Amino acid sequence: MSGALGFDLPAWSAARLSAVEAALDRWVPAHAPAGVGEAMRYAVLDGGKRLRALLVFAAAEAVGATDGAAALRAACAVELIHGYSLVHDDMPCMDNDVLRRGKPTVHVRFGEAMALLAGDAMQALAFELLTPGPDEDRVAPPTQAALCAQLARAAGYAGMAGGQAIDLASVGLALDENQLRTMHRLKTGALLQASVRMGAACGACGGPALAALSDYGAAIGLAFQVVDDILDVTADSATLGKTAGKDALNDKPTYVSLMGLEAARAHARELQDDALAALANSGLADTVALAALARMVVERSN
Ligand code: IPE
Ligand code: IPE
Ligand code: MG
Ligand code: MG
Ligand code: MG
Repeated sequence: MSGALGFDLPAWSAARLSAVEAALDRWVPAHAPAGVGEAMRYAVLDGGKRLRALLVFAAAEAVGATDGAAALRAACAVELIHGYSLVHDDMPCMDNDVLRRGKPTVHVRFGEAMALLAGDAMQALAFELLTPGPDEDRVAPPTQAALCAQLARAAGYAGMAGGQAIDLASVGLALDENQLRTMHRLKTGALLQASVRMGAACGACGGPALAALSDYGAAIGLAFQVVDDILDVTADSATLGKTAGKDALNDKPTYVSLMGLEAARAHARELQDDALAALANSGLADTVALAALARMVVERSN
């Protein structure tokens, strides 16, 4: 259907983002011991594009999920894991960055030990949200288990943390395209793909539709980091809300250092086409939000 042309992504996003912001405000505790709550809230509230949360909702809607509580919890959980990965990514022992989401990084504001602990606590809180207690929202136990399984695998050694380990081990090296693709799929792609699969897990989705959504998630997940590499070179720090030019400074292999700016841009567009083709093959009726998000991933300016 040609609904994509009339689809208003900003309006669609605004309604969902205000629900995410309110839920995070409720669930990330201000009064956690000795200032760790303050650091967690600083890290996760009021900032970021919230792309991963939007992917959860868009996938949930594409599969006709009716369990809104599960989707909201999944959206917040994935943003907590993402936020924690940024807190640690910025630390002096990793990328050593001082600016994130237009503010001083968590370790600059609260100290390194507190940044470490805030990240740890955000990771655990993500799984707390996916397993609500008896006085909280009801999420069917099989859905809880599926959401935890997806998120744990995407965050761990075979996903974000493993990819970040490759990233650190690759400083100063000239990776070939296969190696770079693997690093980007793990450090960034896995969590984006998991966002899509978690949205799908909030409804009934299996077989070819789930495979198509996974392909969509893999394509935009890789595209997202290719574009992050491009923006690091082409955008300024004020637009990005983080330090531009950091990859060259830290001697990181990127799609730009591997193939140059124009070829990296062309590759991102190819991945966008792959993502849209996967949606077209999914057999799902309502994929306009997912399609609009794929375009946003590749055409964004920050
Ligand atoms: C930045 O992610 C880190 C990467 C995985 C490339 P985002 O660009 O999604 O960061 P926020 O959430 O919008 O700040
Ligand atoms: C980060 O990649 C990936 C994460 C898992 C956090 P980058 O190091 O390129 O992310 P930015 O550019 O600092 O946001
Ligand atoms: Mg990094
Ligand atoms: Mg970084
Ligand atoms: Mg980057």
